[in-house]
Amino acid sequence: MPFNTALTRKLGIRVPVVQGGMQWVGYAELASAVSNAGGLGLVGLVLTHCAHSTYPRRSAQGNPTMPHHDQVPLRCQPDPPPRPGPPDYGAYAQVIIDEGIKIVETAGNNPGPVITQLKKAGIIILHKCTTIRHAKSAVKLGVDFLSIDGFECAGHVGEHDITNFILLSRARQELGVPFIASGGFADGQGLAAALALGAEGINMGTRFMSTVEAPIHQKIKEAIVNAQETDTALVLRRWKNTSRLFANQVTKDALKVEKESTTGEFSEIAPFVSGKRGRQVFLNGDKDYGVWTAGQVIGLIHDIPTCAVLLERIEKEALEAMNRTRSLFNDAPASKL
Ligand SMILES: Cc1cc2nc3c(=O)[nH]c(=O)nc-3n(C[C@H](O)[C@H](O)[C@H](O)COP(=O)(O)O)c2cc1C
Repeated sequence: MPFNTALTRKLGIRVPVVQGGMQWVGYAELASAVSNAGGLGLVGLVLTHCAHSTYPRRSAQGNPTMPHHDQVPLRCQPDPPPRPGPPDYGAYAQVIIDEGIKIVETAGNNPGPVITQLKKAGIIILHKCTTIRHAKSAVKLGVDFLSIDGFECAGHVGEHDITNFILLSRARQELGVPFIASGGFADGQGLAAALALGAEGINMGTRFMSTVEAPIHQKIKEAIVNAQETDTALVLRRWKNTSRLFANQVTKDALKVEKESTTGEFSEIAPFVSGKRGRQVFLNGDKDYGVWTAGQVIGLIHDIPTCAVLLERIEKEALEAMNRTRSLFNDAPASKL
């Protein structure tokens, strides 16, 4: 039975599942596999430079398996971790517009100018945030969907540590704009729960890393399958840039520096959290080579399916879960006694 949610209707997708932007993972081959499987795949814009920013669309179009409807997803991240000089987001947004991109995921605390620019061009915006306060600001900017990222999620969890059980219901109570649930989802039972809490779909990151099409080393996919929900750690809280990472030795060493540094200088921890080494992990398959992002949902991932198998399974499980819940009600007419 096909889903019929605000997300599936607006995006023209079959399964209300989005593959969130992922640095060093969310390339066109993964995004197109997710879109072809009936969800929405997003290409990470920070994976390329403005000079090469036609890459996602060109690659996606060059892929014969891309869906025919003109949905070439692209992700724009207005507020990335500290780096020398901010990228020219206005220029990125203009390339997105010029290339005819239809859907963009934004994230970060100051997305206003980019969202305004993209909305003027009629682009559908999914804005990801970890607090209701930020979600409300994005609503004022006219975003189409909020992607509510709970404390369970991989990557930037924010500084308030509110899990999805609370965040999603707060979103339902407060926002008045459709939202999807992000962080901690890997299966159809999770999707059914998110829909019950008022979401129009889910966003998944870590689960998609462990798929056949994810362009990362097989050994990292296997490390995900072998990991437990306790195998993540939070770093950079001291600098209000808290990130959930896979708890390997480098992450643990970084945490030690964070706790023990007497100066509190970021430069002391910088070599441990280097993005360059993190990127190598996905290429060389050594899970301990550098830090890499993963969510608590890592404990729910037990295999490496294709995106098509994964999304079909999620669809089936969600339906079964919703039928099961329905069967818990007694349909018999009320007794007249
Ligand atoms: C390897 C990896 C890289 C990610 N990179 C980014 C990023 O660059 N920017 C961002 O906003 N979110 C990033 N995320 C977060 C995802 O887009 C998504 O919000 C998150 O994974 C959802 O939580 P889950 O992993 O529990 O599904 C990343 C996640 C992973 C697993």
